[in-house]
Amino acid sequence: MSVGALTSLARVELCERLATFSPSPKLHRLQLYSSGAEAVESALRLAKCYTGKHEFVSFWGGFHGKTMGVLSLMGSRFKEKLGPMLPGSHTVPYADCYRCPLKLAYPGCSLDCVELARKQIRMSSAGSIAAVIVEPMQGTSGNVIPPKEFLPAVCEMAHDLGGLLIADEMITGLGRTGRNFGVDHSGVVPDIMAVGKAFGGGFPLSGIVTTDEISAAKPWSNPSGSSSSYGGNPLGAAAGATALQIIDDEQLVENSAKVGAAMLRELKGFAERYPFVGYVDGAGLFLRVELVKDKASKEPLPRAVTERIFKECARRGLLTMAYAASFRIQPALTIDEATGKNALGLLADVFDDAVRAGWWK
Ligand SMILES: Cc1ncc(COP(=O)(O)O)c(C=O)c1O
Repeated sequence: MSVGALTSLARVELCERLATFSPSPKLHRLQLYSSGAEAVESALRLAKCYTGKHEFVSFWGGFHGKTMGVLSLMGSRFKEKLGPMLPGSHTVPYADCYRCPLKLAYPGCSLDCVELARKQIRMSSAGSIAAVIVEPMQGTSGNVIPPKEFLPAVCEMAHDLGGLLIADEMITGLGRTGRNFGVDHSGVVPDIMAVGKAFGGGFPLSGIVTTDEISAAKPWSNPSGSSSSYGGNPLGAAAGATALQIIDDEQLVENSAKVGAAMLRELKGFAERYPFVGYVDGAGLFLRVELVKDKASKEPLPRAVTERIFKECARRGLLTMAYAASFRIQPALTIDEATGKNALGLLADVFDDAVRAGWWK
Protein backbone atom coordinates (compact mmCIF):
# COMPACT_ATOMS: atom_id res chain seq x y z
CA MET A 1 0.00 0.00 0.00
CA SER A 2 1.22 3.49 -0.69
CA VAL A 3 0.94 6.40 1.68
CA GLY A 4 -0.25 9.80 0.49
CA ALA A 5 -1.02 13.08 2.22
CA LEU A 6 -1.34 13.53 6.00
CA THR A 7 1.41 10.97 6.51
CA SER A 8 1.58 9.56 10.00
CA LEU A 9 2.89 6.38 11.54
CA ALA A 10 -0.69 5.23 12.10
CA ARG A 11 -1.44 5.76 8.42
CA VAL A 12 1.56 3.67 7.41
CA GLU A 13 0.39 0.92 9.74
CA LEU A 14 -3.14 1.13 8.32
CA CYS A 15 -1.82 0.72 4.78
CA GLU A 16 0.37 -2.22 5.75
CA ARG A 17 -2.44 -3.96 7.56
CA LEU A 18 -5.01 -3.44 4.80
CA ALA A 19 -2.52 -4.90 2.29
CA THR A 20 -2.63 -8.22 4.17
CA PHE A 21 -6.40 -8.45 3.52
CA SER A 22 -6.32 -7.37 -0.15
CA PRO A 23 -7.74 -9.82 -2.74
CA SER A 24 -4.71 -9.21 -4.96
CA PRO A 25 -1.22 -7.73 -4.52
CA LYS A 26 -2.08 -5.53 -7.51
CA LEU A 27 -4.70 -3.69 -5.45
CA HIS A 28 -2.23 -1.83 -3.30
CA ARG A 29 -2.94 1.86 -3.82
CA LEU A 30 -5.11 3.35 -1.11
CA GLN A 31 -6.75 6.77 -0.80
CA LEU A 32 -8.61 7.55 2.39
CA TYR A 33 -11.87 9.36 3.14
CA SER A 34 -14.34 9.67 5.98
CA SER A 35 -17.66 8.36 4.65
CA GLY A 36 -18.77 5.60 2.34
CA ALA A 37 -20.45 7.88 -0.16
CA GLU A 38 -17.34 10.06 -0.32
CA ALA A 39 -15.20 7.04 -1.18
CA VAL A 40 -17.62 5.80 -3.85
CA GLU A 41 -17.77 9.30 -5.38
CA SER A 42 -13.99 9.21 -5.63
CA ALA A 43 -14.09 5.78 -7.26
CA LEU A 44 -16.47 7.19 -9.89
CA ARG A 45 -14.23 10.20 -10.52
CA LEU A 46 -11.21 7.93 -10.83
CA ALA A 47 -13.01 5.66 -13.31
CA LYS A 48 -13.84 8.73 -15.41
CA CYS A 49 -10.24 9.93 -15.32
CA TYR A 50 -8.82 6.52 -16.24
CA THR A 51 -11.24 5.65 -19.04
CA GLY A 52 -12.04 9.13 -20.36
CA LYS A 53 -15.69 8.04 -20.34
CA HIS A 54 -18.63 9.30 -18.34
CA GLU A 55 -21.48 6.76 -17.97
CA PHE A 56 -22.08 4.34 -15.10
CA VAL A 57 -23.95 1.09 -14.60
CA SER A 58 -25.38 0.01 -11.27
CA PHE A 59 -27.91 -2.57 -10.09
CA TRP A 60 -31.50 -2.81 -8.94
CA GLY A 61 -31.45 -2.93 -5.17
CA GLY A 62 -27.95 -1.39 -5.03
CA PHE A 63 -27.02 1.14 -2.37
CA HIS A 64 -23.89 3.27 -2.57
CA GLY A 65 -24.63 6.39 -0.50
CA LYS A 66 -26.74 9.51 -0.64
CA THR A 67 -24.57 12.25 -2.14
CA MET A 68 -25.75 13.49 -5.54
CA GLY A 69 -23.42 11.44 -7.78
CA VAL A 70 -23.89 8.09 -6.08
CA LEU A 71 -27.59 8.73 -5.50
CA SER A 72 -28.04 8.41 -9.27
CA LEU A 73 -26.73 4.85 -9.03
CA MET A 74 -29.06 3.76 -6.30
CA GLY A 75 -31.35 0.95 -7.44
CA SER A 76 -34.29 1.83 -5.22
CA ARG A 77 -37.00 4.41 -4.56
CA PHE A 78 -34.61 6.36 -2.38
CA LYS A 79 -34.18 8.74 -5.32
CA GLU A 80 -37.79 9.87 -5.33
CA LYS A 81 -38.20 13.66 -5.10
CA LEU A 82 -34.42 14.12 -5.37
CA GLY A 83 -34.08 14.38 -9.15
CA PRO A 84 -32.85 15.11 -11.65
CA MET A 85 -30.30 12.32 -11.54
CA LEU A 86 -26.97 12.37 -13.38
CA PRO A 87 -27.28 11.69 -17.10
CA GLY A 88 -25.61 8.45 -18.19
CA SER A 89 -26.68 6.41 -15.15
CA HIS A 90 -27.99 2.96 -16.05
CA THR A 91 -29.56 0.60 -13.53
CA VAL A 92 -29.86 -3.09 -14.44
CA PRO A 93 -31.25 -6.21 -12.69
CA TYR A 94 -29.27 -7.92 -9.91
CA ALA A 95 -29.21 -11.71 -9.53
CA ASP A 96 -31.63 -12.02 -6.63
CA CYS A 97 -32.59 -15.60 -7.39
CA TYR A 98 -35.26 -15.86 -4.68
CA ARG A 99 -37.07 -13.01 -6.36
CA CYS A 100 -35.69 -13.45 -9.87
CA PRO A 101 -36.39 -10.29 -11.89
CA LEU A 102 -37.05 -12.52 -14.92
CA LYS A 103 -39.03 -15.15 -12.98
CA LEU A 104 -36.52 -17.82 -14.00
CA ALA A 105 -34.84 -20.47 -11.86
CA TYR A 106 -31.09 -20.77 -11.25
CA PRO A 107 -29.06 -22.55 -12.65
CA GLY A 108 -31.32 -23.26 -15.62
CA CYS A 109 -31.56 -19.50 -16.28
CA SER A 110 -27.92 -19.34 -17.51
CA LEU A 111 -27.78 -15.92 -15.81
CA ASP A 112 -30.16 -14.32 -18.28
CA CYS A 113 -30.22 -11.24 -16.02
CA VAL A 114 -26.66 -10.40 -17.11
CA GLU A 115 -27.60 -10.96 -20.74
CA LEU A 116 -30.55 -8.58 -20.28
CA ALA A 117 -28.25 -6.03 -18.63
CA ARG A 118 -25.89 -6.18 -21.59
CA LYS A 119 -28.76 -5.62 -24.01
CA GLN A 120 -30.27 -2.81 -22.00
CA ILE A 121 -26.94 -0.99 -21.77
CA ARG A 122 -26.36 -1.44 -25.48
CA MET A 123 -29.78 0.07 -26.19
CA SER A 124 -29.66 2.94 -23.71
CA SER A 125 -26.05 4.08 -23.33
CA ALA A 126 -24.06 6.53 -25.39
CA GLY A 127 -21.28 3.94 -25.61
CA SER A 128 -19.24 5.68 -22.94
CA ILE A 129 -19.34 3.41 -19.87
CA ALA A 130 -16.65 4.40 -17.35
CA ALA A 131 -17.53 1.73 -14.80
CA VAL A 132 -19.96 -0.85 -13.54
CA ILE A 133 -20.42 -0.56 -9.80
CA VAL A 134 -21.66 -3.54 -7.82
CA GLU A 135 -22.03 -4.79 -4.27
CA PRO A 136 -20.60 -8.34 -4.37
CA MET A 137 -23.56 -9.18 -2.11
CA GLN A 138 -26.29 -6.60 -1.66
CA GLY A 139 -26.64 -5.41 1.92
CA THR A 140 -29.30 -2.72 2.14
CA SER A 141 -31.68 -4.49 -0.22
CA GLY A 142 -31.82 -7.46 2.19
CA ASN A 143 -28.50 -9.33 2.25
CA VAL A 144 -28.97 -10.75 -1.22
CA ILE A 145 -26.31 -13.27 -2.20
CA PRO A 146 -26.06 -13.82 -5.97
CA PRO A 147 -24.88 -17.12 -7.46
CA LYS A 148 -21.09 -17.48 -7.66
CA GLU A 149 -21.04 -17.00 -11.44
CA PHE A 150 -22.73 -13.59 -11.23
CA LEU A 151 -19.76 -11.43 -10.24
CA PRO A 152 -17.39 -12.94 -12.84
CA ALA A 153 -20.11 -12.33 -15.48
CA VAL A 154 -20.53 -8.72 -14.32
CA CYS A 155 -16.74 -8.22 -14.41
CA GLU A 156 -16.61 -9.54 -17.97
CA MET A 157 -19.51 -7.28 -18.93
CA ALA A 158 -17.76 -4.21 -17.45
CA HIS A 159 -14.57 -4.94 -19.37
CA ASP A 160 -16.40 -5.77 -22.61
CA LEU A 161 -18.05 -2.35 -22.31
CA GLY A 162 -14.60 -0.78 -21.95
CA GLY A 163 -15.25 0.23 -18.35
CA LEU A 164 -13.84 -0.65 -14.95
CA LEU A 165 -15.38 -2.87 -12.30
CA ILE A 166 -15.90 -1.08 -8.98
CA ALA A 167 -16.71 -3.40 -6.08
CA ASP A 168 -18.47 -1.58 -3.26
CA GLU A 169 -17.31 -3.57 -0.23
CA MET A 170 -18.60 -1.11 2.35
CA ILE A 171 -20.75 -3.79 4.03
CA THR A 172 -19.25 -7.01 2.67
CA GLY A 173 -15.61 -6.11 3.31
CA LEU A 174 -13.31 -7.17 6.14
CA GLY A 175 -14.91 -10.35 7.36
CA ARG A 176 -18.65 -9.72 7.23
CA THR A 177 -19.30 -12.55 4.75
CA GLY A 178 -16.80 -15.00 6.25
CA ARG A 179 -14.01 -14.07 3.83
CA ASN A 180 -11.80 -10.99 3.79
CA PHE A 181 -13.91 -9.41 1.03
CA GLY A 182 -17.15 -10.24 -0.75
CA VAL A 183 -15.23 -10.63 -4.04
CA ASP A 184 -13.18 -13.44 -2.48
CA HIS A 185 -16.18 -15.77 -2.82
CA SER A 186 -15.87 -15.71 -6.60
CA GLY A 187 -12.19 -14.89 -7.11
CA VAL A 188 -12.95 -11.71 -9.04
CA VAL A 189 -10.34 -8.97 -8.68
CA PRO A 190 -12.08 -5.63 -9.18
CA ASP A 191 -10.31 -2.63 -10.67
CA ILE A 192 -11.35 -0.41 -7.77
CA MET A 193 -12.67 -1.47 -4.39
CA ALA A 194 -14.43 0.81 -1.91
CA VAL A 195 -14.12 0.07 1.82
CA GLY A 196 -15.71 1.56 4.93
CA LYS A 197 -17.80 0.61 7.98
CA ALA A 198 -15.79 -2.24 9.65
CA PHE A 199 -12.65 -0.61 8.21
CA GLY A 200 -12.75 2.03 10.96
CA GLY A 201 -14.28 -0.25 13.59
CA GLY A 202 -17.06 2.32 14.05
CA PHE A 203 -14.90 5.40 13.46
CA PRO A 204 -15.77 7.35 10.26
CA LEU A 205 -13.14 5.99 7.92
CA SER A 206 -13.42 4.84 4.32
CA GLY A 207 -11.19 4.44 1.32
CA ILE A 208 -10.68 3.18 -2.18
CA VAL A 209 -8.11 0.62 -3.20
CA THR A 210 -6.84 0.26 -6.75
CA THR A 211 -3.86 -0.53 -8.94
CA ASP A 212 -0.74 1.53 -9.72
CA GLU A 213 -1.87 2.08 -13.27
CA ILE A 214 -5.41 3.21 -12.49
CA SER A 215 -4.38 5.39 -9.56
CA ALA A 216 -2.00 7.29 -11.85
CA ALA A 217 -4.89 8.61 -13.97
CA LYS A 218 -5.07 12.39 -14.16
CA PRO A 219 -6.45 14.70 -12.90
CA TRP A 220 -7.38 12.29 -10.04
CA SER A 221 -3.67 11.71 -9.31
CA ASN A 222 -2.68 15.38 -9.38
CA PRO A 223 -1.67 16.91 -6.05
CA SER A 224 -4.98 17.41 -4.18
CA GLY A 225 -6.79 15.76 -7.11
CA SER A 226 -8.22 12.96 -4.99
CA SER A 227 -7.69 14.00 -1.38
CA SER A 228 -10.18 15.35 1.13
CA SER A 229 -9.54 17.44 4.23
CA TYR A 230 -9.97 14.70 6.80
CA GLY A 231 -9.18 11.61 4.73
CA GLY A 232 -6.59 9.56 6.58
CA ASN A 233 -6.33 11.96 9.51
CA PRO A 234 -4.14 10.54 12.30
CA LEU A 235 -7.07 9.65 14.56
CA GLY A 236 -8.98 7.91 11.76
CA ALA A 237 -5.84 6.10 10.63
CA ALA A 238 -5.15 4.91 14.19
CA ALA A 239 -8.76 3.71 14.55
CA GLY A 240 -8.51 1.83 11.24
CA ALA A 241 -5.13 0.28 12.02
CA THR A 242 -6.44 -0.87 15.40
CA ALA A 243 -9.67 -2.25 13.91
CA LEU A 244 -7.68 -4.27 11.36
CA GLN A 245 -5.30 -5.46 14.06
CA ILE A 246 -8.24 -6.71 16.13
CA ILE A 247 -9.86 -8.40 13.11
CA ASP A 248 -6.53 -10.15 12.55
CA ASP A 249 -5.56 -10.95 16.15
CA GLU A 250 -9.00 -12.20 17.15
CA GLN A 251 -9.46 -14.07 13.85
CA LEU A 252 -12.77 -12.36 13.27
CA VAL A 253 -12.98 -13.37 9.61
CA GLU A 254 -12.82 -17.01 10.66
CA ASN A 255 -15.23 -16.29 13.52
CA SER A 256 -17.68 -14.76 11.07
CA ALA A 257 -17.52 -17.88 8.86
CA LYS A 258 -17.90 -20.27 11.80
CA VAL A 259 -20.62 -18.51 13.82
CA GLY A 260 -22.44 -17.47 10.65
CA ALA A 261 -22.53 -21.08 9.42
CA ALA A 262 -23.95 -22.25 12.76
CA MET A 263 -26.61 -19.53 12.70
CA LEU A 264 -27.51 -20.33 9.10
CA ARG A 265 -27.99 -24.03 10.00
CA GLU A 266 -30.40 -22.96 12.73
CA LEU A 267 -32.22 -20.58 10.38
CA LYS A 268 -32.66 -23.29 7.74
CA GLY A 269 -34.69 -25.10 10.38
CA PHE A 270 -36.84 -21.96 10.74
CA ALA A 271 -37.68 -22.11 7.04
CA GLU A 272 -39.01 -25.67 7.53
CA ARG A 273 -40.77 -24.95 10.81
CA TYR A 274 -42.56 -21.65 10.23
CA PRO A 275 -45.19 -21.04 7.54
CA PHE A 276 -44.05 -17.43 7.10
CA VAL A 277 -40.29 -17.97 6.75
CA GLY A 278 -40.06 -18.13 2.97
CA TYR A 279 -36.31 -18.25 2.49
CA VAL A 280 -33.05 -18.02 4.38
CA ASP A 281 -29.52 -17.62 3.07
CA GLY A 282 -26.20 -16.43 4.39
CA ALA A 283 -22.47 -16.02 4.03
CA GLY A 284 -20.66 -15.56 7.32
CA LEU A 285 -22.45 -13.09 9.55
CA PHE A 286 -24.40 -11.73 6.58
CA LEU A 287 -27.73 -13.51 6.90
CA ARG A 288 -30.96 -13.14 4.99
CA VAL A 289 -34.47 -14.05 6.12
CA GLU A 290 -37.53 -13.48 3.93
CA LEU A 291 -40.81 -13.25 5.80
CA VAL A 292 -43.75 -14.04 3.54
CA LYS A 293 -47.53 -14.35 3.68
CA ASP A 294 -47.41 -17.35 1.42
CA LYS A 295 -44.42 -19.47 0.46
CA ALA A 296 -45.67 -20.10 -3.08
CA SER A 297 -46.53 -16.50 -4.00
CA LYS A 298 -43.61 -15.07 -1.90
CA GLU A 299 -45.77 -12.08 -1.05
CA PRO A 300 -43.97 -10.25 1.79
CA LEU A 301 -45.49 -10.21 5.29
CA PRO A 302 -47.30 -6.90 5.82
CA ARG A 303 -45.53 -4.12 7.70
CA ALA A 304 -47.93 -4.32 10.66
CA VAL A 305 -46.88 -7.94 11.28
CA THR A 306 -43.14 -7.36 10.86
CA GLU A 307 -43.32 -4.37 13.20
CA ARG A 308 -45.03 -6.57 15.76
CA ILE A 309 -42.24 -9.15 15.39
CA PHE A 310 -39.69 -6.37 15.88
CA LYS A 311 -41.44 -5.09 19.02
CA GLU A 312 -41.90 -8.58 20.50
CA CYS A 313 -38.19 -9.28 19.94
CA ALA A 314 -37.22 -5.95 21.53
CA ARG A 315 -39.44 -6.71 24.55
CA ARG A 316 -37.45 -9.91 25.06
CA GLY A 317 -34.14 -8.08 24.74
CA LEU A 318 -33.37 -8.87 21.10
CA LEU A 319 -32.76 -5.96 18.77
CA THR A 320 -33.46 -7.08 15.17
CA MET A 321 -34.07 -5.62 11.73
CA ALA A 322 -37.29 -7.67 11.56
CA TYR A 323 -39.34 -4.50 11.08
CA ALA A 324 -38.97 -5.31 7.36
CA ALA A 325 -40.10 -8.46 5.54
CA SER A 326 -36.67 -8.75 3.92
CA PHE A 327 -34.97 -9.18 7.22
CA ARG A 328 -31.21 -8.92 7.72
CA ILE A 329 -29.17 -10.46 10.51
CA GLN A 330 -25.75 -8.85 10.84
CA PRO A 331 -24.38 -9.22 14.36
CA ALA A 332 -21.00 -7.86 15.52
CA LEU A 333 -18.04 -9.77 14.07
CA THR A 334 -17.02 -10.61 17.64
CA ILE A 335 -20.22 -12.56 18.43
CA ASP A 336 -19.71 -16.10 19.73
CA GLU A 337 -21.75 -19.17 18.88
CA ALA A 338 -23.62 -19.28 22.21
CA THR A 339 -24.74 -15.64 21.88
CA GLY A 340 -25.85 -16.20 18.29
CA LYS A 341 -27.79 -19.31 19.31
CA ASN A 342 -29.39 -17.47 22.21
CA ALA A 343 -30.51 -14.65 19.88
CA LEU A 344 -32.09 -17.11 17.46
CA GLY A 345 -33.76 -18.82 20.42
CA LEU A 346 -35.44 -15.52 21.34
CA LEU A 347 -36.48 -15.03 17.72
CA ALA A 348 -37.94 -18.55 17.68
CA ASP A 349 -39.95 -17.73 20.83
CA VAL A 350 -41.51 -14.76 19.03
CA PHE A 351 -42.18 -16.82 15.88
CA ASP A 352 -43.76 -19.60 18.01
CA ASP A 353 -46.05 -17.01 19.61
CA ALA A 354 -47.00 -15.67 16.19
CA VAL A 355 -47.97 -19.18 15.01
CA ARG A 356 -49.75 -20.16 18.25
CA ALA A 357 -51.82 -16.97 18.42
CA GLY A 358 -52.15 -16.69 14.64
CA TRP A 359 -51.22 -13.00 14.55
CA TRP A 360 -48.88 -13.44 11.59
CA LYS A 361 -51.86 -14.05 9.26
C1 LIG B 1 -22.68 -0.74 0.07
C2 LIG B 1 -22.69 0.66 0.62
N1 LIG B 1 -22.00 1.62 -0.03
C3 LIG B 1 -21.97 2.88 0.42
C4 LIG B 1 -22.63 3.24 1.55
C5 LIG B 1 -22.59 4.67 2.01
O1 LIG B 1 -21.85 4.78 3.16
P1 LIG B 1 -22.00 6.09 4.09
O2 LIG B 1 -23.33 5.99 4.76
O3 LIG B 1 -20.84 5.96 5.05
O4 LIG B 1 -21.89 7.26 3.21
C6 LIG B 1 -23.37 2.29 2.27
C7 LIG B 1 -24.09 2.66 3.48
O5 LIG B 1 -24.84 1.91 4.07
C8 LIG B 1 -23.40 0.96 1.79
O6 LIG B 1 -24.10 0.01 2.41
